[in-house]
Amino acid sequence: MAPLNEALKDFTTVIVTGGSSGIGKSFIERCLALNPALAVCNLSRRDPQFDAHSIKLRHFPCDLAQSVVLKKIAAEVEVFLEKAAPEGRVLLLNNSGFGAYGHFPEPSIEHVTEMIDVNVRAVVELTGLLLPLLRRRGGVIVTVASTAAFQPTAYMATYGASKSFVLHWSLALNEELRGTGVRALALCPGPTATDFFRRAGLKQGSVAESLSMTCDDVVTATLKAVESGCSLVVPGWKNKVSTFFVSKLSKPLAARLAAIVLARFRLKKVAT
Ligand SMILES: NC(=O)c1ccc[n+]([C@@H]2O[C@H](COP(=O)([O-])OP(=O)(O)OC[C@H]3O[C@@H](n4cnc5c(N)ncnc54)[C@H](OP(=O)(O)O)[C@@H]3O)[C@@H](O)[C@H]2O)c1
Repeated sequence: MAPLNEALKDFTTVIVTGGSSGIGKSFIERCLALNPALAVCNLSRRDPQFDAHSIKLRHFPCDLAQSVVLKKIAAEVEVFLEKAAPEGRVLLLNNSGFGAYGHFPEPSIEHVTEMIDVNVRAVVELTGLLLPLLRRRGGVIVTVASTAAFQPTAYMATYGASKSFVLHWSLALNEELRGTGVRALALCPGPTATDFFRRAGLKQGSVAESLSMTCDDVVTATLKAVESGCSLVVPGWKNKVSTFFVSKLSKPLAARLAAIVLARFRLKKVAT
């Protein structure tokens, strides 16, 4: 198998949303370990506080739920890159996202619509704003969906639907981009050891460790998929098997089974 650093061959630039923790942070750390000369832009509310002191590593503080800030931030990213990395392929990782557990619209309708703004609208808008740059320089758009994208997910209804949206959107976009030098890759991780479940209102350790992957493993699978040129990656054999079987079920049956599994999570819910 080719060494992993081949995955970033010809790339000079990585733009990540949500690099302040979890999968996004691991992705940035791995990219810089593979190629410290990369220009890296991180878009999130919190500053990732990396150990690496690269002058080409820039944090752009922003709340992606606020549509008005996106145009400004995308323009600032382009200005930064004109100096830091004016040429070479670009890897955009649409990673920012969050979930919420409970009966719709818990915890509040404002929280749920903010989730749609971050998980869906910001992905579409940022990609649209940066697409001319990507077309000019070539590259890959990696969008983080989830194994939750493969079936309706009761008690996380809006979250699962937001991930179905970005999964189908990314696959369709990849077809539209054929022959342009830009590809789209949908990343569908299953449970991963991050802050995700705590932020979704569940107790730490809600998912059994045996079912959970590390961020590092998810990042490795992603970089291999970037290298291989595929349009969809589900990291881990357990996630591959479960998404394969659930895809064969009728939607109502898949919804029922997921509801039975997810209902058990109520025991892990943090009291509000
Ligand atoms: N962990 C899992 O089990 C799992 C499974 C499947 C898919 N995913 C997906 O993986 C992606 C990364 O999540 P994670 O697991 O790494 O969880 P995480 O550690 O909670 O990271 C989520 C990231 O999203 C950013 N974010 C959230 N709201 C934002 C906002 N309004 N504006 C800008 N950035 C925002 C956060 O940055 P700030 O808070 O600093 O803004 C943070 O860096 C998400 O799309 C998630 O849905 C996770």
